[in-house]
Amino acid sequence: MNPLSDLALRVPSRYGQQVRKCLQRCDLYDSGRRSKSAADDRVVLPLVDRGLDLERMVRDSLALEIPSEWEIVHEKLPISKKNHVVTPYQQMVSGIEKFLRQSGMLLTEELRSDIPKNWERHGDLIMFATCFQGPFWKQWGDEIWFLISKILSCKKLALKGNVISNEYRTPRVSMLLGQDGWVEHVDNGIRYTYDVTKCMFSSGNVTEKLRVASFCCENETVVDLYAGIGYFTLPYLVHSRARFVHACEWNPDAAAALRRNLSLNKVEERCMIHFGDNREHCPKDIADRVNLGLIPSSEPGWEMACAALKKCSGGILHIHSNVESKEIKVEYNENYDEACSECRNLNDCDSSKQRGEKPCDDGRHPCSRNGARDEEYSRESERAATKKRWREWSAEVSTNIRLILERIHTSQQWKTNSLHIEHVKSYAPHVDHLVLDLDCRPV
Ligand SMILES: C[S@@+](CC[C@H](N)C(=O)[O-])C[C@H]1O[C@@H](n2cnc3c(N)ncnc32)[C@H](O)[C@@H]1O
Repeated sequence: MNPLSDLALRVPSRYGQQVRKCLQRCDLYDSGRRSKSAADDRVVLPLVDRGLDLERMVRDSLALEIPSEWEIVHEKLPISKKNHVVTPYQQMVSGIEKFLRQSGMLLTEELRSDIPKNWERHGDLIMFATCFQGPFWKQWGDEIWFLISKILSCKKLALKGNVISNEYRTPRVSMLLGQDGWVEHVDNGIRYTYDVTKCMFSSGNVTEKLRVASFCCENETVVDLYAGIGYFTLPYLVHSRARFVHACEWNPDAAAALRRNLSLNKVEERCMIHFGDNREHCPKDIADRVNLGLIPSSEPGWEMACAALKKCSGGILHIHSNVESKEIKVEYNENYDEACSECRNLNDCDSSKQRGEKPCDDGRHPCSRNGARDEEYSRESERAATKKRWREWSAEVSTNIRLILERIHTSQQWKTNSLHIEHVKSYAPHVDHLVLDLDCRPV
């Protein structure tokens, strides 16, 4: 980390590997330099300069795992070719450490664990989450934030909390450095500008944005029921070449950003913003395709989406939802033996006999005692059950949408057909963000 550091730890060679692992675990191993063998069957391992506290930190990191035959020495070690790239996180830690040392303070373990290892970049702003908590960091005013912005090559810094689950899904973002939260961000060739303190930009939906960008929507009219700042509206206009997009949005800040984004990308002539609640303002009988990008559920918009589809020819709905699947715990399961690829016949146990394994007293195949295989079987069952749950969800949605279509267009029967289920992201354990592409046609 500190390129001038010559601190190293000399230990007996037989403990070399073990000590290196301990030091790495505690961020004390300087991966920018290489270890080397020394006289008396010793090895010298490069140490990160942690100031006066170093000796105690080394002692704590080694704990009881090796005996006390070690010493901290000054030794010029060769620069590591493989690892001499210092990560931005490492630069940030050593920068903060130096900054604190100049003020006569130490970067304690508690403070170090409050420094983020990853972050989101929005144009020239870097957004951290769950870090730099507590009053300690505030005492330096902008000084420390300037330092971090210099290290990470950005102009603004912000701290993100959870999205407030209000009707606008407002982000809980506070600025650490910078006058305001406006940023310009380029994503898949599209320019987006927005105020990070007022509008959310979901970087987790990137695969869905790319998928939308790959659709061919020439000559199509698209309705985006939950347009936000244009995360889907813009890919429809710029990449999918939609003829026209009707974008519904009720958050004034998001609608303002959307307006700017349409003109930034020179597509404002092919889009109309319907400002207000889409249940009142969404156009009807106009769309070849409707995007319903709202989670945890876009169900409040299903009726409007059905009404937006062209009565005479129907179209495709892209329905977002979080779908919960059950956790499956497999203990011992008879089916496991049936599914065992080693021995399909539990009674014969031929393959295990050939391997000289004895069946258990209770007659179970030895492979059923194998924890790793049980786990694999459990994972496979869980995957199969999850997919089944997704298909059930898609069938339910498909039926409900058909019923809505038949209720609002009383003179016609409709057919709905699930074209595809897209897994956008895992939202939480056993909760997945899915998109159902549903083809809806009058019969
Ligand atoms: C989750 S955000 C948009 C996210 C974007 N589609 C994406 O997935 O990245 C949902 C947007 O829908 C807007 N919204 C929610 N309910 C609405 C309604 N009834 N009418 C109009 N806009 C609505 C919110 O203000 C918000 O900007």
